[in-house]
Amino acid sequence: MKVCVIGASGKLGRYLVRHALDRGYEVVGVCRERSVPKLAEFADRITVVPGPTNDPELIRKAVAGCDGVLTVLAPWGVQQYSSGTAQAVLDFAEPDARLVFSCGWHISRDGEDRYSWRFKATVRIVTVLARLLRAVEIDDQVEAGRRIFASDRRWTVVRGSDLEEGESQGLPVWSRHVGDPVLASNLTRRVDFALFMVEALTDDTLVHEAPAIVGRLSPSALAHAGTRN
Ligand SMILES: NC(=O)c1ccc[n+]([C@@H]2O[C@H](COP(=O)([O-])OP(=O)(O)OC[C@H]3O[C@@H](n4cnc5c(N)ncnc54)[C@H](OP(=O)(O)O)[C@@H]3O)[C@@H](O)[C@H]2O)c1
Repeated sequence: MKVCVIGASGKLGRYLVRHALDRGYEVVGVCRERSVPKLAEFADRITVVPGPTNDPELIRKAVAGCDGVLTVLAPWGVQQYSSGTAQAVLDFAEPDARLVFSCGWHISRDGEDRYSWRFKATVRIVTVLARLLRAVEIDDQVEAGRRIFASDRRWTVVRGSDLEEGESQGLPVWSRHVGDPVLASNLTRRVDFALFMVEALTDDTLVHEAPAIVGRLSPSALAHAGTRN
């Protein structure tokens, strides 16, 4: 299997590369030119395509011949980075490729997610502050989600909880909707977020799903595992 990792140099991206290589996949990594040194540990094992991930021509080249595309949707800068990246992947990936995207719980597919007041307030404050500082564009990640959900490609949008570093706990538990008690702990190891995305490449039951995930050993997962909604 040949897999393209878009946003390969970030924290999540490097875990994605590692899991893909562990499975014996051929890996193409896309990242900003200045971040190529962050991929030094993989230099002789992957092909790196340097450049902005929302550049359609760059993405067209990077995803050519790939059976799977793992995309880190990053809401950086006021430049439609997330939606531009998602659109390029939707436009240029191979017709049958498995497309797996990362984002946070705040992206809702069907409006059926039930968020705590604290979560909603945080997202609202971050969105406004970020827009003022012109550093992060949360609205654009929402737009990226909208375009993916509207697409008939073979996509999965993996919605991460708060993240922490640490050793793998195994495949995270997931639910279709935030608000499900199984997700209440709101914490996943970043290495396992990546594990879930790489596993999704070969799990057709996740096609056209937007799983919200939580760490397998988190208290809420242990208490409620098996009760998805
Ligand atoms: N952090 C959390 O608690 C959290 C919670 C839920 C979901 N998520 C989701 O998890 C995914 C990964 O997030 P992460 O926090 O772990 O970060 P990350 O993996 O380090 O990824 C950040 C990405 O953004 C890129 N980036 C940083 N600054 C940029 C800029 N100014 N312009 C363009 N690209 C820039 C990075 O590329 P470079 O290597 O080039 O800098 C990297 O690819 C995202 O989809 C996020 O929505 C995160």
